[in-house]
Amino acid sequence: MNHENSKKPYRIVITGGAGFLGSHLCSKLIQIGHEVICIDNLITGNPDNLAPLMGNKRFRFLAYDVTNFVHIEGRVDVILHFASPASPTDYLEFPIQTLKVGALGTHKTLGLAKAKGARYLLASTSEVYGDPLLSPQTEDYWGNVNPVGPRGVYDEAKRFAEAMTMAYHRYHGVETRIVRIFNTYGPRMRLNDGRVLPTFMKQALHGEPLTIFGDGSQSRAFSYVGDIAPVIANAENIPAAENQIFNIGADLQFTVNELAKEVCLAMGKEGHTRHVEARNEVAHAYSSHEKAIRIFGNAKPTSLKEGLGRMALWALKTGSKKSDVFGNIEIREKLPPLWLE
Ligand SMILES: NC(=O)c1ccc[n+]([C@@H]2O[C@H](COP(=O)([O-])OP(=O)(O)OC[C@H]3O[C@@H](n4cnc5c(N)ncnc54)[C@H](O)[C@@H]3O)[C@@H](O)[C@H]2O)c1
Repeated sequence: MNHENSKKPYRIVITGGAGFLGSHLCSKLIQIGHEVICIDNLITGNPDNLAPLMGNKRFRFLAYDVTNFVHIEGRVDVILHFASPASPTDYLEFPIQTLKVGALGTHKTLGLAKAKGARYLLASTSEVYGDPLLSPQTEDYWGNVNPVGPRGVYDEAKRFAEAMTMAYHRYHGVETRIVRIFNTYGPRMRLNDGRVLPTFMKQALHGEPLTIFGDGSQSRAFSYVGDIAPVIANAENIPAAENQIFNIGADLQFTVNELAKEVCLAMGKEGHTRHVEARNEVAHAYSSHEKAIRIFGNAKPTSLKEGLGRMALWALKTGSKKSDVFGNIEIREKLPPLWLE
């Protein structure tokens, strides 16, 4: 496809747009000037995430399950397939739905891309590498996945989705991009989604000790959603990204002990931690982002302190509507608003 002749603003279909990442993308795409059609069946999403966009003439929300045939009237320039339960708590609760949206949902949305001559971007995950035997993982690493273990429902769904995307590219000539997203955090992450940062934040909110598995020296990298969403929103315009697969995430590593300390600081809480028996988990998970940096450049990432501060602000604001449990917590710094507000 000739990018120079592409019509702008685009008419973009995004699946999973009521979720954490998808809703930030909807906001960013609207802010850039595009028209956005968001499709979501709300299995793990929350329509409140889209409240700032409701009433915008360039935004439309369709409550629909994309494992069924997807039809959209008129032109579609770009499709972003983000629908899928994403946290371990969610995909273990909805294993069949996770497999279906990775397999059938990807097939249906690729069919729409083919019919409309639209570019297609698949939200994949670092989990396609499974329990990697190689670090850092580069895009040409094939991974180490147990297809019959409990996490196989998510890992294999995404691996199938990648294979299907490449088949539509090779066989039907659909222009594709596959982004393997690494741990991302920020406002709108559900505090009960079971991942380490929201869990710490929830425990801090309730004045509970933060649970640390093992001695807390295991490390992870985290990206702030405000750094990731603009890169994905613009990926359609970068010819070097055409038909590519790339890891997307941060190079900043933190030990779980450091994360616990930073969460308590962001929440303005005294830190109490509780160490429990170590889980069978990778000690230091990290990946290579050199390819993405070559394609998209290397913007300075949001610091963990600032990102957690924004997330804490959001958690307190949202939480205070529902309960007074957050009432006596103060945010230490006033942070500038997010670009999406
Ligand atoms: N958040 C991360 O750190 C991360 C990391 C790697 C990959 N990803 C990928 O990014 C995408 C979004 O993740 P998230 O963290 O925002 O999760 P999320 O659960 O907040 O959002 C997923 C959205 O998809 C919707 N959905 C699920 N099945 C659907 C279906 N059949 N039809 C229509 N809508 C459906 C849900 O209702 C929800 O709104 C997922 O594909 C996930 O695999 C996220």
